[in-house]
Amino acid sequence: MVDLPDALRAALLTETAGMPRKQLVAATQRLIGQYRSGSAPGAPILASATDAAAYAAYRMPATYAAIRGALAEAARSAPDFAPRTQLDIGGGTGAALWAAAAVFPTLTGSTVVEQSASATAVGRRLAGAAPWPAVRSATWLAGTLAQHAVLPGADLVTAAYLLTELGEAEQRGLVDRMAAAGQVVVLVEPGTPAGFQRVAAARRRLTDAGLHVLAPCPHGNACPLAESTAAGDWCHFAARVNRSAEHRQLKEASLGHEDEKFSYLVAARFTGRPGAGRVLRHPVQRKGQVLLQVCGQDGTVARTLVTKRHGRDYQRARKVRWGDAWPPPDGD
Ligand SMILES: C[S@@+](CC[C@H](N)C(=O)[O-])C[C@H]1O[C@@H](n2cnc3c(N)ncnc32)[C@H](O)[C@@H]1O
Repeated sequence: MVDLPDALRAALLTETAGMPRKQLVAATQRLIGQYRSGSAPGAPILASATDAAAYAAYRMPATYAAIRGALAEAARSAPDFAPRTQLDIGGGTGAALWAAAAVFPTLTGSTVVEQSASATAVGRRLAGAAPWPAVRSATWLAGTLAQHAVLPGADLVTAAYLLTELGEAEQRGLVDRMAAAGQVVVLVEPGTPAGFQRVAAARRRLTDAGLHVLAPCPHGNACPLAESTAAGDWCHFAARVNRSAEHRQLKEASLGHEDEKFSYLVAARFTGRPGAGRVLRHPVQRKGQVLLQVCGQDGTVARTLVTKRHGRDYQRARKVRWGDAWPPPDGD
């Protein structure tokens, strides 16, 4: 379960306090519909102050959790990576700023590019409550990516849930610019087949540009799931998020949590810690055995049956979760 930083949870409540509930619920339902449609929007989606507040309240907890999950894997696969600067493109209300500061305490400065003035206004206010100077002092660049011919270079360059809002040529341009701007590039997209295919296309482009894939893939070969549509499978993961009472109210949902499905990629100008395999599905536990679906270092996906006869590995397999490395690094 991923919990929001206390300061963010409190700031989100302050942000929506006093706003008419009916309007917030209506904006939330409209945004849910737009994001579910999956098509690139013709105009900015976060168009008003109510939209931006609704987005922050109902959506940011989930995007924060997914981005944090991806960044935690970046940290695991590159233990010596100690970024000082971050560039976040399409930053919305700032989820990636908060997630990066939580994972990388070495960050001292961040820049956000965001086209929506309403999202920026909310993001700035929320950031003002952060315990991390890098978040509080972030520079917010107004306007679209196309309006910024020059982007600041940064150790860590992130774009979360952005490719989905861009046309194909713009997606390619974004990926190229991220590759040029950063030491480590992190992309996060919805964990749908279409979201995965966008990440897979970016992966091909980044490796063509000479970057190394650090996560989730334990190899730099072609992605076996992207190349084989016959498998009908796609690489995605899930982050469980607590829902506050307000979150439930806005989404008109009753469950106390939600599972945010996401696809992601971490690529870098340097090679990472040699990776183990990656667990691609919820492990299936039966009496005396655990069945794992693992993407391996050889670039193939295979089912691995771990039984009691495997001793220590069996104990580790019982604890391993969807998205974890397999076998776990020693000490985990
Ligand atoms: C779905 S939101 C994701 C926000 C944030 N990254 C998150 O994960 O919560 C996509 C954001 O990208 C912004 N965006 C879309 N196209 C953009 C562009 N061409 N230039 C700058 N920002 C853009 C939108 O305004 C929106 O705030």
